[in-house]
Amino acid sequence: RTVYVNGDYLPETEAKVSIFDRGFLMADAVYEVTSVIGGKIIDFAGHSVRLQRSMSELEMVSPVTMDELLAIHRELITKNDLDEGGIYLQITRGAPGDRDFAWPDPEEVPCGIVLFTFNKPLVDSKVMDEGIKVISIADERWGRRDIKTTQLLYPSFAKMQAKKKGCADAWLVEDGLVTEGTANNAYIVKDGTIITRQLGNDILHGITRAAILRFAVEAQMKVEERPFTIEEAQQADEAFVTSATGFAQPVIEIDGATIGTGVPGDISKRLREIYTEEMI
Ligand code: PDD
Repeated sequence: RTVYVNGDYLPETEAKVSIFDRGFLMADAVYEVTSVIGGKIIDFAGHSVRLQRSMSELEMVSPVTMDELLAIHRELITKNDLDEGGIYLQITRGAPGDRDFAWPDPEEVPCGIVLFTFNKPLVDSKVMDEGIKVISIADERWGRRDIKTTQLLYPSFAKMQAKKKGCADAWLVEDGLVTEGTANNAYIVKDGTIITRQLGNDILHGITRAAILRFAVEAQMKVEERPFTIEEAQQADEAFVTSATGFAQPVIEIDGATIGTGVPGDISKRLREIYTEEMI
């Protein structure tokens, strides 16, 4: 693979970052994952707006303009002959000469940037036919989950707890209410109404979420943005999750309780269809 590091396109084995990089030492970094289908980037505009917001909330100065960033995405797709999969992008607060909790002056230490591509089938997914099982677990992440940082230890921990129980993912619960999945937004469907937590600092503002809700409204489906409990989810007709690389994925079991009839629901399936039709 050819990857991008601070201005250079290099073979992945030659790409290097400093051991003092704050992304490495302190998870002082923000990221985006954008999907690519048929060599085309899906919703770059949405991802670049969120990236700029993540950086500005953390007072990071972008090392590239968004036009440059789009050009880098395109160049990597070409260089790697990428048809279906995605692009990972990370901007870190850079590498001061030493470890310090205080942020360095951005004039002296510019932010670092890396991008790499990955191949992955997204459209034809077995998960869509079968759906996934999830567990619930306490949400013990920090309070600014609207900023897409690389602080991903708790989500990885939660995912491992799910795997140990034979499930694909975990839904995080705070004050008795579901926030989101480890790397996706969470939804239930009851009597035809799509229910998903409202935006705030406690969840990531999913780019796929925004598109799915827009398409749902356009298709005259009812949408309610409010939190829900695990019990309510277990009694729902359908459940699903959304993310850039998963689109809409049905959830068929939560903490051992079957959702609906135990197969992917019609609304989840319809939303995935609309999403792929509209976005690809
Ligand atoms: N995760 N919530 C969390 C905590 C996430 O990490 C993600 C994305 C989402 C969905 O956001 P979007 O629709 O913009 O992808 C929600 C990415 C895919 C990841 O970490 O790999």
